[in-house]
Amino acid sequence: MLPLQDGFSRRFYYLRLSVTDVCNFRCTYCLPDGYRPPEGSKEGRNAFLSLDEIRRIVSGFAAMGTRKVRLTGGEPSLRRDFTAIIETVANTPGIEKVAMTTNGYRLKERAQAWFDAGLTALNVSVDSLDPRQFHQITGENKLVEVMEGIAAALAAGFKSVKINAVLLKGLNDHQLDAFLGWIKHKPIELRFIELMQTGEMDTLFRDHHVSGEQIKRRLLESGWAQQLRGKDDGPAQVFMHPGSQGRVGLIMPYSKDFCAGCNRLRVSSAGKLHLCLFGDNGVALRDLLAADNQQDALQQRIRAALAGKSATHRLHEGNAGMTPHLASIGG
Ligand code: 5AD
Ligand code: SF4
Repeated sequence: MLPLQDGFSRRFYYLRLSVTDVCNFRCTYCLPDGYRPPEGSKEGRNAFLSLDEIRRIVSGFAAMGTRKVRLTGGEPSLRRDFTAIIETVANTPGIEKVAMTTNGYRLKERAQAWFDAGLTALNVSVDSLDPRQFHQITGENKLVEVMEGIAAALAAGFKSVKINAVLLKGLNDHQLDAFLGWIKHKPIELRFIELMQTGEMDTLFRDHHVSGEQIKRRLLESGWAQQLRGKDDGPAQVFMHPGSQGRVGLIMPYSKDFCAGCNRLRVSSAGKLHLCLFGDNGVALRDLLAADNQQDALQQRIRAALAGKSATHRLHEGNAGMTPHLASIGG
């Protein structure tokens, strides 16, 4: 079976699967007013992909070469069957890595169960190390709990944890030294993510967007070295320092060539395939997930859609596409 490939010879072995768009945080750059169900949706039991639908979609992708699945949201752990989801994905033949992205609020109590169920990697969002500012950015006064969760994850057996921090000018962009001090003796990869403009964002982008280039310059000036990018690496630029166990990654979606390393596809919690984080309407797959005997049609539809994947997003033109906020398709 040919691996999934687009018209620009990019290979896709990595699927980001959103299992819910619901979130209990209210991050200023994502869901500043908190979660609201999308218009026209019944808050019914069928709103999100069921465990069986998840099993079928992951099987379909795995048969086409997908080796890594990241479970995202919203906040994935809000699903009561989340541990069963991990187990189902981890037990799918072909899937070697199961990762998740979480705001960390349930991490302390669940880290061990998730590890035991087959989770292999974990990204936790920590936008500030200052409890008050963390509260201000996320709407929740939970920095202490999230930090305890990260410690619990390392104790549970995860070899390293990735931390996501969205760069916000005037808020956390002066905290580089505090962040670097925190990871110095920890197996943590800290990823600074440049703020991305989404459909529902009004003045936040204008007021708080700052390029990751500033961080890059400061890292290079203080002895950090950029790692060469491996063939299968995603779009992050990674830096290491001989005096630091922790690493730093920069995600700069507005930089030249960001899209050249694209290696991921996305499926929303409503079962739509998204070829890019920005600017597409999504291809419905759900009608092919109701039974086990439609795997061929599912694979055909995914391949056909991929043939139309664009070379790059159009963020530079101020075009953030159809994505209202990243909670809708999982960041
Ligand atoms: N810009 C950049 N990153 C974002 N995230 C969510 N919204 C945005 C945005 N507008 C990222 C955060 C969070 C992850 C789930 O998605 O890093 O950690
Ligand atoms: Fe929730 Fe993540 Fe969005 Fe924050 S960024 S509101 S934690 S989905």
